[in-house]
Amino acid sequence: MVPELEQESQSIVEYSKLQPDTLPARRVLFTQSSSFIHHSSVAFRLSSQRASILMRSLVVGCTLIVMAITVPMAAAQKVDLSIDASKTGAKIDRNVFGQFAEHLGHGVYEGIWVGPDSRIPNTRGIRNDVVGALKAIKVPNVRWPGGCFADEYHWRKGIGPQRSVTLNPNWGGVTEANTFGTHEFMDFLDQIGAEAYVSVNVGSGTPQEAAEWLEYMTAAAPTTLAKERAANGHPAPYKVALLGIGNESWDCGGNMTPDYYLSQMKVYSRFVRNFNPEQQDKHQMLKIAVGPGGGEPRWTEWTEAVMKAYQQHTWSWDINGLSMHNYTVGHWPPSYTSVGFGETEYSQILKFTLEMDGLISKHSAIMDKYDPDKKVALVVDEWGAWYAPLPGSNPGFLVQQNSLRDAILAALNLNILARHADRVRGANIAQMINVLQAMIITDKEKMVLTPTYYVFKMYIPFQGATFVPVTFDGGWYTHGDVALPRVDAIAAKDANGKLWLGITNLDPNQPVEIEASLAGITAKSAAGETLTAPKVDSVNTFDTPNTVVPKPVSARVQGGKLALKLEPKSVTVVSVEP
Ligand code: AHR
Repeated sequence: MVPELEQESQSIVEYSKLQPDTLPARRVLFTQSSSFIHHSSVAFRLSSQRASILMRSLVVGCTLIVMAITVPMAAAQKVDLSIDASKTGAKIDRNVFGQFAEHLGHGVYEGIWVGPDSRIPNTRGIRNDVVGALKAIKVPNVRWPGGCFADEYHWRKGIGPQRSVTLNPNWGGVTEANTFGTHEFMDFLDQIGAEAYVSVNVGSGTPQEAAEWLEYMTAAAPTTLAKERAANGHPAPYKVALLGIGNESWDCGGNMTPDYYLSQMKVYSRFVRNFNPEQQDKHQMLKIAVGPGGGEPRWTEWTEAVMKAYQQHTWSWDINGLSMHNYTVGHWPPSYTSVGFGETEYSQILKFTLEMDGLISKHSAIMDKYDPDKKVALVVDEWGAWYAPLPGSNPGFLVQQNSLRDAILAALNLNILARHADRVRGANIAQMINVLQAMIITDKEKMVLTPTYYVFKMYIPFQGATFVPVTFDGGWYTHGDVALPRVDAIAAKDANGKLWLGITNLDPNQPVEIEASLAGITAKSAAGETLTAPKVDSVNTFDTPNTVVPKPVSARVQGGKLALKLEPKSVTVVSVEP
């Protein structure tokens, strides 16, 4: 016991030698305890026995006081926000909160599908725990079956009683059992209450194969394909809300030039029809063309080409969206670790992730040139953190942990997407379960919800809400050569007139005191939740699932102002009752 205390005392002395100005705020606190060290030097002049007793009690006292003051941390930074709820912007499309489930690693098999004979509780082969968790975050749509996998997927192998076993050359070269096919996907969507975003095979398939798949899924008339669907257990036509015409056709989807892709895309757009009678007038299927994967000239040229063609399109083809992929990776191949990192990697990854804003602005500006009325949506249908594979995992399975850093990264991206709500009307985080920045991690019968999951849960009120501009200047959080805005915030009004505020404190060391002036709303009360954890790389594990979970936060409303304290490295969502 005593040696440990002495060690603690030693560290206090070392910190006390440092200059407060050069230290992060948390460490400055340690220097404030230096007066206790000074007192302890007086103790050495006393008799050795008394001195030793006194020394021990001083060390205990110092340690307790240091422990007490390290928890509340440094003095809070004050940040003023100003919100006028009468000045509304675009609606934040709920499809911005979409998910992506590719046949990759344990994303589908084990993550969703365990089969009806599994000991893991399931409904028709789909695991109940995962369904329960996903229902709770109100997933609007799921993009499936890929990703790169989509351009090698042949839907016929995944229907009927006899399923072909194929290969998955993109992702680990493993066998693909095809036991999770069209009917299982649609059943899964029904169970979680989400819509289908189906990506058809443009790379190695044909327009006919894709057209027949759509007829199989959506025809109500008694065609041979509709009857086959009925014989396979589903007489009623399925709905397909979104159709992806290829995936990364400039790369894993067939290495096409913009012109080559355009000629393919027009054919698919024309012939891959949705026949569902309920999707003819209202709720028409939205067709999403392949779009950019970065900001370099090859991507801006791609966007130019597709949007220019769109501007000149005739009655015979159309698109409703342009996809964009943007991963937070730092550098390829992914080398940042998903656990066991510190403030340097935390700040660098957040800096990279904020580049999403510039990328959207860049491609939106091109789209504006050809589509000033913003008829074509930008659909960021792959985004999220892509780190080095966890040691010991199959590198083709893209397995990574999910930490508090990912929660903050998710909130920052959702805020960016919301700020671009007039153009960005869809997005899909990659990926839903067990792959990349997942909501859920499973291992056999075990399941754990990640910090990212909780951000999606806290952000539910923003689904379909109307954007309300927020102005603020929180100053900068700096670490090494990285400078990041200390806070980020969005606001939106829901259908009941309630105002919602999502605020992130990026600074891992200092709390923030928010004072928000509220105009255009007579605020009565406020309540909310906050998500933080002891460390930037804190994670939830099967054994400790509650390390990073939301907790209630108190907010005060007085005289048209909202007062709220944000913990360091936290995501907070607050509702203001009119
Ligand atoms: O999400 C993993 C892969 O990333 C997808 O299959 C592909 O579209 C992208 O390159």
